[in-house]
Amino acid sequence: MCGIVGYIGPRQATPILVNGLRRLEYRGYDSAGVAVWEGGSARVVRCQGKLRGLIEKLEVEPAPGKVGIGHTRWATHGRPSDVNAHPHKVGRISVVHNGIIENHLALRHELEASGSKFSSETDTEIVAHLVSAEIEDAKDLTAAVQKALGKVIGAFAIVVMDEKNPDVLVAAKNASPLVIGLGEGENFVASDVTAILDETKEMVFIEEGEIVTITRDAVVITDLEGNPVTREAKTIRWTAAQAEKDGYRHYMAKEIHEQPRAVADTLAGRVDLEHDTVALDGNDIDVSNIKRIVMVACGTSYHSSLVGKFLIEQMSRIPVEVDMASEYRYRDPVVNDTDLVIAISQSGETADTMGAVQLAKERGAKVLAISNVLESSIPRLADYAFYTHAGPEIGVASTKAFTTQLVSLTLIAIHLGRQTGKLAPERARELLAEMVTLPNKMADLIEHGAQLQVIARRYGNSQGFLFMGRGNQYPIALEGALKLKEISYIHAEGYSAGEMKHGPIALIDENLPVVVLVPQGPLYEKTVSNLTEVRAREGKIIAIASSGDQEIGALADEVVMIPNTLPELQPILSVVPLQQLSYYVADHKGTDIDQPRNLAKSVTVE
Ligand code: F6R
Repeated sequence: MCGIVGYIGPRQATPILVNGLRRLEYRGYDSAGVAVWEGGSARVVRCQGKLRGLIEKLEVEPAPGKVGIGHTRWATHGRPSDVNAHPHKVGRISVVHNGIIENHLALRHELEASGSKFSSETDTEIVAHLVSAEIEDAKDLTAAVQKALGKVIGAFAIVVMDEKNPDVLVAAKNASPLVIGLGEGENFVASDVTAILDETKEMVFIEEGEIVTITRDAVVITDLEGNPVTREAKTIRWTAAQAEKDGYRHYMAKEIHEQPRAVADTLAGRVDLEHDTVALDGNDIDVSNIKRIVMVACGTSYHSSLVGKFLIEQMSRIPVEVDMASEYRYRDPVVNDTDLVIAISQSGETADTMGAVQLAKERGAKVLAISNVLESSIPRLADYAFYTHAGPEIGVASTKAFTTQLVSLTLIAIHLGRQTGKLAPERARELLAEMVTLPNKMADLIEHGAQLQVIARRYGNSQGFLFMGRGNQYPIALEGALKLKEISYIHAEGYSAGEMKHGPIALIDENLPVVVLVPQGPLYEKTVSNLTEVRAREGKIIAIASSGDQEIGALADEVVMIPNTLPELQPILSVVPLQQLSYYVADHKGTDIDQPRNLAKSVTVE
């Protein structure tokens, strides 16, 4: 995710902005920039790559001045480059922005039709154009921002600077974090407490739909209609290290909690509920030529591919095969130009997935990459790219990347289903309407996670765990086992519940916790009967069941309820308690949760 910092006061802004951006570096970014006002104009200095590059540039082209805005960018629209880096300046207006403007295409077309010239590929530049168009007739910058935001749909935190009115910065928030730091005769604005914690501990947290007018001596908050809002400042007692994790003890915990936002961002601008369709970011995949889909990936991304197989086959009736990329590339696979290969990689850099993509391309297949990192190697090599908008994932154990991969695969499956005509428009509508509710359901689920902490303490000293599920819950069982073993070092196996009696049932005794994924749906009864087989052998059952299930309590030792949703979407919710379980077990054991032994975030070697 991108980072914002802004300053207005008696001191030189650039060192404060650069220090703030340095504090945000841990979040991951691909470019950085500042805009600083002096002597009637704002100087913008931007640079692709690390902050070091921006600092070197600023040595050559200094940006003196006492009011300014800065930004670290994590690309979502438009590749990482100097021109796509923020701030974006249009006329007298400079803007930094975090989040996603959902209606950016429509707004861009409108603005271009009325003569606006764009210099970047970003959605952010649209905000600069909109404010610029309003400013001449508006009573002040706040009124211009208010008017411009009336046209914008999406998630954003923005800070705007006007070179003709340098005594003020205007910020606004809708769904992306924004905080104001209070000083003596100076004020700060940032996306994260971390960015300004070196300067002040007095912070005012901005809420949804609020606009803030920041001068040297005052901070005025209103809602989007201009009604005043009063908010007490809070004194932050976090250390810088705690602040980096938004107060969570580990990045993994922070990233688990970020999932509702990450899912909403991945859906943003892609779901068309009016026409029951999905916009695939302009990827015009021709289904008439596809005879088969082959999915290749590693680790957690491989598990999302397994869920993808269920989704795509069910909705489009195109046959799907799933391969571990490390196996695929060395087994001389049958692949040709009637195959669509879907390669999934959070980092976009995994060597085995890259090798599989190269091989498939050499043999004539078209490749669609699903990745979380814009312009990383795998999407660059692929014919089509679809991005999860999870924001940077820092914890080694993948969480929000996984759930946003599932969301992306569901969108792709719906798209393919509509293209092949095998998915009825009514069902597509039902699925899409339900998907839009997932962020709230997920937030609710995560909030009730304390129960998992109790369960983790109760079973966290076990020698091993078994996870089982059927249908699209089977890959979630695999993912639950992977999460647990990688961060707690407890041996865990994921099994298809139907396979139990073919071997693993021998493991079951009173010392083995068995996590059973048993949400309501067509396979509920069958899974319950597997669960009773475990119970008959005295295994300890932790059931992940649908809210309102009256039967399951009598059959399981522990029951974790997940909100009701359509069966196709259940994996997106049912994996969350498994992430929390492994997190709390690891925490109970005191392992290094964010950097487990022997593991790297991105496996760029074989
Ligand atoms: C597990 C995990 C790994 C990755 C795997 C693939 O939590 O993070 O299993 O999923 O190394 O990485 P990407 O998706 O970057 O290709």
